[in-house]
Amino acid sequence: MVLSALVHPHGIYKGAWRHPDAEADRVNDVEYYKKVAQLCERGLLDLFFIADTPAARTDNLDIWTRSPLFQNVMEPVTLLAALAGATSRIGLGATVSTSFFEPYNIARQFASLDHITGGRAAWNVVTSANDYAARNFGLDRLPPHGERYAKARECLELVKSYWDTWDQDAFVFDKEKAIYFDPKKFHTVDHKGAYFTVHGGLNIARPPQGHPVIIQAGASESGKELAAQTAEIVFGTGAEPEAAKAFYSDLKGRMPKFGRDESQLFILSGLSTVIGRTREEAKEKFEYLQSLVPVEVKVMALSNDLEVNLLDLPLDEPVPVDRIPASSNLHQAYFNQIADMIRGQKLTLREMANKYTRGSKAMCATANEVADFMESWIEQRCCDGFMLSPAVVPGSLKEFIDEVVPVLQERGIYKTAYKGKTLRENLGLYPVANKNSL
Ligand SMILES: Cc1cc2nc3c(=O)[nH]c(=O)nc-3n(C[C@H](O)[C@H](O)[C@H](O)COP(=O)(O)O)c2cc1C
Repeated sequence: MVLSALVHPHGIYKGAWRHPDAEADRVNDVEYYKKVAQLCERGLLDLFFIADTPAARTDNLDIWTRSPLFQNVMEPVTLLAALAGATSRIGLGATVSTSFFEPYNIARQFASLDHITGGRAAWNVVTSANDYAARNFGLDRLPPHGERYAKARECLELVKSYWDTWDQDAFVFDKEKAIYFDPKKFHTVDHKGAYFTVHGGLNIARPPQGHPVIIQAGASESGKELAAQTAEIVFGTGAEPEAAKAFYSDLKGRMPKFGRDESQLFILSGLSTVIGRTREEAKEKFEYLQSLVPVEVKVMALSNDLEVNLLDLPLDEPVPVDRIPASSNLHQAYFNQIADMIRGQKLTLREMANKYTRGSKAMCATANEVADFMESWIEQRCCDGFMLSPAVVPGSLKEFIDEVVPVLQERGIYKTAYKGKTLRENLGLYPVANKNSL
């Protein structure tokens, strides 16, 4: 079972930053993140992951001030570099968008991070899904979904070519013969494509992992195709078991046509837990968390992700199915999760607003019940592990690590020590050969 933590500064719940345990004013304090990363490592999690978008929200600020998503966050790769020395075994992953960053910059950033961490870097390849980001980069809105993915595919291939600039043993540092590197082991990157034309090479040695681990979270057709071809970790959504099973077999079923082995891709289902000694206690904690943000703020978040206004609907009635737009241009995964709540679960708008945790299944339960759920999803091949989205950071993460991880270990379904030194070794991923040496 692979476990990762999605670390939003204060947690996934909209009011988490107001929780008495939340250290809201430490959001720019690297010592705070070190403590959280060390906590994750104590729980033997495979990956500490930071989501990102390159933009602040510019409208509805009186609403966003109550629930500040990405309004004050550090640039994630820089932050991960600062966490490298405070951790030694856990993988460190971050999002960088292929819509707004050049392949050279991405390759250099993650190659450097992989060296700094001794082979623990992972890149979440996203196409971005909000127009605030587009406007920071000279566009009025995001390019259409298909175009974003075509660019992502080309960008990713080019990033990998840059990582293959040097053979692993290219740098010999032979003082006697005055040979710093072996020129035969340098491979120029020459590329002319629809989105990028480059001639060059990366000015840093090949990353210790060969290639940092590739993560994706797309749930659209193009997202799944790209993931089946290239991803090693995919964040699935916290849908119901049937939907998760269908996603799992669909995605893994696409891998053979790209010559890939199913064991080389880990699908992690989103899981957000509020744990209590009894289910009632967990529910009380959950209700307290919900009271920290007005329901309208949550309905606005639902509206954004479903790409339609829901603010005019009565709170205590189910959302009419015909409100669901025909298709999504932003986050297919989140869109599907909300559409599923409307179609399948017939929840009222208020219930949906309180339950919705962007891509994660929300659970209020005892530690044993959480472990039962996790075990059963793995057994049913709904996923290979979980992307934990703690309700409150670090409180809910600590609860999970202290209370659920030992139960999983007792049941023999979670490791009791890290296996290797690099993220690739810990996950059991094959080494990546340099395409120029094949
Ligand atoms: C756990 C999880 C983490 C995600 N992190 C990010 C992120 O950091 N930045 C981002 O723009 N999108 C993020 N996404 C959204 C997906 O990448 C998104 O679905 C994708 O950008 C849109 O592609 P799709 O239409 O193929 O789903 C995340 C999704 C999930 C489930």
